[in-house]
Amino acid sequence: MDKVGIIFDLDGVIVDTAKYHYLAWKKLAKSLGIDFDEHMNEQLKGVSRVKSLEKILSWGNQTLDEDTFKNCLYSKNEDYLNYIKELNEDEILPGVLEVLNYLRDKGVPFALGSASKNARTILKATGIMDWFEAIVDGNDVSIAKPDPQVFLIAADKLGIEPSKCVVFEDSVAGIQAANAADMLSVGIGDQEVLKEADYIFNDFTEIELKFIESIILK
Ligand code: BG6
Ligand code: MG
Repeated sequence: MDKVGIIFDLDGVIVDTAKYHYLAWKKLAKSLGIDFDEHMNEQLKGVSRVKSLEKILSWGNQTLDEDTFKNCLYSKNEDYLNYIKELNEDEILPGVLEVLNYLRDKGVPFALGSASKNARTILKATGIMDWFEAIVDGNDVSIAKPDPQVFLIAADKLGIEPSKCVVFEDSVAGIQAANAADMLSVGIGDQEVLKEADYIFNDFTEIELKFIESIILK
């Protein structure tokens, strides 16, 4: 049996930071006079910082010169960093540590596959950075999800074939990226939003270790 590898998204899967991205984008959109709600925010989940701002501007029918665009990215990130400055292990989502510990016990390697350039800061703050065999984040990729690049690099770093990898994701773009990488996709969140995933759970507390066992034996 070939070895299986697991790839976790970060924001909204391991830590409850998706809400802070939302709040920071909402503030930025407001400053530009653009309406922004949770439904629109779904389309930003998993999407890089630059692409997210481009989407917000297109919803508001606006364009910005290069300097203003960069300033907006900077100020969104400053607000976001401000929200997460006291982040600690308590922000790890319920049920996640049980799954990570189970994988460690079983010797199943796992990697991070995140669009965020702040991923390492968050992993350090939550104390689980060393648990990951490989970390691939927004600093390592040139094409954002839904392109499979981030997950393919993670599989490569794990030394495991893409078809033997399983991805946990909370975003539509991330599920599409996992599917495009020929990986098993597990959606964490709303059934309707994540309907393209192979399996969907509302959160990690719904995932029984039996399910994890079944995917690592696949
Ligand atoms: C993803 C988030 O994980 O990272 C997105 O779902 C975010 O909301 C993206 O825009 C980029 O993150 P950062 O931290 O580099 O701005
Ligand atoms: Mg996410």
